[in-house]
Amino acid sequence: MRWFKVLNKAQIPTIDSIKTITVDGRQVCIVNNADKIFATQSYCPHAGGHFDGGWCKNGNLICPIHRYEYNLETGRGAEGQGDYINIYPTELREDGLYVGFEESWWSKLWG
Ligand code: FES
Repeated sequence: MRWFKVLNKAQIPTIDSIKTITVDGRQVCIVNNADKIFATQSYCPHAGGHFDGGWCKNGNLICPIHRYEYNLETGRGAEGQGDYINIYPTELREDGLYVGFEESWWSKLWG
């Protein structure tokens, strides 16, 4: 696992909001759902909508384009969608928020 500091504590999105950040040139969405922080891929697998304009509902991230839903814990799409999004582990440390990426995933995509 490779960890990146992505935000200072003061920059973490407020409850039920989403912020897009760039990690080494790539976009990731930081989602605050009921004061729990998640990191997800930024584009919806359905038709490429950006999650930045989306919102949270019942632990799911809702895409603003066609309202597909993705579980923030597992990344799974709602029943019938047959898709999923990448969820990356987050860690709140003394100096801010960190997001972890699998080494194999990282080097395969962004090597
Ligand atoms: S692009 Fe996200 S639901 Fe269609």
